[in-house]
Amino acid sequence: MTTVGIDAVEIWTGKLKLDLPETFAPAQGDDPEKYTKGLGLEASSFPDTYEDIVTMGANAAKRLMDRKGLVPDDIGRIDVATESAFDNSKPVSTYVAGCLEQVYDGDFHHANKGERKFACVSGTQSIDDAYNWIAAGRSRGRAALVIATDTALYARDSSGEATQGAGAVAMLIDEEPDLVALSHEQGYGSADETDFLKPQQQFPSVDGKRSMQVYLARMREALQDFEGQDTTHPDDFAYVPFHTPFPGMVRKAGLLGYRRIVRNTDLESEIAEEIGRQPREEAYEDREAYEEAIQTHMDELKQTDQYRSWYDATIEPTLSISRQVGNWYTGSVHVARVSALQAAAEAGRGLSGERLLVASYGSGAQAEIHAETVQDGWKEEIEALTIDEQLRRRYDLDFEEYEHVHDAHNHDLDTEIEAFTQPSGEFVHAGWGRMNERTYEYVE
Ligand code: COA
Repeated sequence: MTTVGIDAVEIWTGKLKLDLPETFAPAQGDDPEKYTKGLGLEASSFPDTYEDIVTMGANAAKRLMDRKGLVPDDIGRIDVATESAFDNSKPVSTYVAGCLEQVYDGDFHHANKGERKFACVSGTQSIDDAYNWIAAGRSRGRAALVIATDTALYARDSSGEATQGAGAVAMLIDEEPDLVALSHEQGYGSADETDFLKPQQQFPSVDGKRSMQVYLARMREALQDFEGQDTTHPDDFAYVPFHTPFPGMVRKAGLLGYRRIVRNTDLESEIAEEIGRQPREEAYEDREAYEEAIQTHMDELKQTDQYRSWYDATIEPTLSISRQVGNWYTGSVHVARVSALQAAAEAGRGLSGERLLVASYGSGAQAEIHAETVQDGWKEEIEALTIDEQLRRRYDLDFEEYEHVHDAHNHDLDTEIEAFTQPSGEFVHAGWGRMNERTYEYVE
């Protein structure tokens, strides 16, 4: 079988920015370092008044289609992954296709469209679906468009408010990809959990601390499942992009992952000379004593040169965009992949043939881990991105403006405010149709 993977990627950030240490922290009466050092965040992206999950997704997709010289007939499948959908029946992908049909000759009438839901892991699941569709020989030579788009807004004054974000990632899944090839091997960790949910409501109900525990537990389970199928030596992977609700979460997941993947390796013996071997449960009388020993070991492991240099090389570069945008839910792990590849391009590093270990997670809850192999065209793809410029051009909200923007996007309020930025060469939410559907138009 030919290789299948991500051929191209495009990112669209919401056009507004909330500076967390400068603007949000003082208004909340918080120490700015809770955000910069604790959570690892500098800013959140927000949608302007004319932006939503459809415009951001369609704008990312258009940029991708233009850059790759694609027309609608080249696309056999459009899947949108989101946890911010505003309709329980009509999928967001139909709206996105409707937008794109305004600007391209031809249409997507023979493309299979859908919407994937499983909290933040559904972007990865949509890639999987596309992979399977192509690998099964059902694509008729066409590619799949996968769009992960979210407005990750939380209720005002809730703990999650610090980690908000908005943006879209569009990815083209195809044979002989330019960016990364996907592997067959996958590890899953999945269980019925109630850590984060939206039972028919716009803003999530979140048990924040528990959601962090569930993230780690499911990730551990997925890694265990993956280990049965593939190698996981720390030196096997150039980068490990994680689902990044906020970088502080990845700091915890990275340490836990490292502890596991160094087991029974040359590195474990090296580290053991410094801090002793990892505690093994069977050596302890009860669970509590074992957990205490693990905690001590983790605190020491975090300080070792081996761990620090692995973290700095493999994890830290995945976090740079996330620090500036906050949580994009379904798009977040895909933003982490791009951050890493951008860092490699900037450092002039040759990456073709190297592997990434990609760790996705969705509350509710499921983690999925798979490996990817970087392809020869990766650098050209990554250098074509305009995300840095987009981030620089965001409108910097003051706190009062932020409050208005939050209200304007609250489905239960009827708040009209002027846009902060001027749309140009993009799709915008233009109004409402006769059946209360959202309508969109392209602004030249
Ligand atoms: N300087 C440095 N660090 C500071 C600090 C300061 N002044 N103040 C707080 N911190 C650290 C805390 O120690 C903590 O780090 P730790 O977890 O390593 O101990 C971190 O900053 C966050 O502070 P905390 O008080 O725990 O924040 P919080 O109670 O407001 O909630 C979340 C944090 C993540 C629970 C909350 O933002 C949330 O609910 N987010 C949405 C859910 C989510 O994203 N879950 C993740 C899994 S998907």
